[in-house]
Amino acid sequence: MAQKDCYILGIESSCDDTAAAVINNGRILSNVVATQEIHEQYGGVVPELASRAHQQNIVPVVHQALQQANIVKNQLSAIAFTRGPGLMGSLLVGTSFSKSLALGLGIPLIDVNHLQAHVLAHFIKSENQTPPSFPFLALTISGGHTQIVKVSDYFEMEIIGQTIDDAVGEAFDKSAKILGLPYPGGPLVDRYAQNGNPRAYTFPKPKVGPLDFSFSGLKTSVLYFVEKESKENPNFVSENMADICASIQFTIVEYLMDKLKNAVKKTGIKEIAIGGGVSANSGIRKALLEAEEKQGWKTHIPKFEFCTDNAAMIAIVGELKYKAGNFAENNVMASARMKF
Ligand code: KG4
Ligand code: ZN
Repeated sequence: MAQKDCYILGIESSCDDTAAAVINNGRILSNVVATQEIHEQYGGVVPELASRAHQQNIVPVVHQALQQANIVKNQLSAIAFTRGPGLMGSLLVGTSFSKSLALGLGIPLIDVNHLQAHVLAHFIKSENQTPPSFPFLALTISGGHTQIVKVSDYFEMEIIGQTIDDAVGEAFDKSAKILGLPYPGGPLVDRYAQNGNPRAYTFPKPKVGPLDFSFSGLKTSVLYFVEKESKENPNFVSENMADICASIQFTIVEYLMDKLKNAVKKTGIKEIAIGGGVSANSGIRKALLEAEEKQGWKTHIPKFEFCTDNAAMIAIVGELKYKAGNFAENNVMASARMKF
């Protein structure tokens, strides 16, 4: 029987962040993330190194999450963990650890879909935030994902559009790399863009289905553009960094907004919730606020710590499933391509 007053430990290890959080009745008591810095020097996540770092980090991160929540492990009601999608080696660390801890404590184990968690992060209780009401459209934009989800209820979700190649965060990071900026370049592109002219240069917006995305062509056009201009002026990039970044960001934001407009038109739903690391981008935030005024949308952007990969979002899904008595079998396996 599920207790009313429950403490759920959430564990996230699908990519390069080892994270643990404790939730108690919708409120996050702790939210600890160990971001793996090892990948910076490689300009992207190296899966093998990620799994090793998870193994090193997971016990201290969980320990810290319990300590900050001011509870002991025997008070936990259940363990929720990311089962997928993600990097298999990374998922295995969180999955095996969670199974063992749940078995050791004799409490239920709850498997969580990482992408559902990005969507349901909007239901974490936060000051000055009202959760979206059903049905709503969720746009998940990060280094690993780009998708539009129609959310009819907590666990009734349908992907109505997604990227056919790179994720939008990759488009930012790969363009940044071409400009000689360190990984992850998204936040730097955003910073340079603040002082640039968004219409200085134009980049093509790939044509795919009305709700789908494609970003691999953008990095190629940025590469050709930079190569061509640098031949004439070797200092082209450094002299025009702000304008180049502003133009790349403008192209990406306009593309995301075009897709959202198509989704609103198709579904008639004007309530929009965004999540994932790219929701930190100042351009997309501004565009969404404008759409509230001009298009009559209602938009939701969670606190940044719940946008990037985190375990609080795993814990909130854990709590919802716990209250519904929806537990995993103890032979549950990690799933790199887990579907909704
Ligand atoms: O959700 P996240 O922390 O991790 C996953 O990829 O799942 O997202 C990280 C991504 C990176 O690609 C990073 O460059 C991008 O989010 N990002 C941004 C900004 N802040 C983070 N991209 C554009 N503008 C930003 N301000
Ligand atoms: Zn994610």
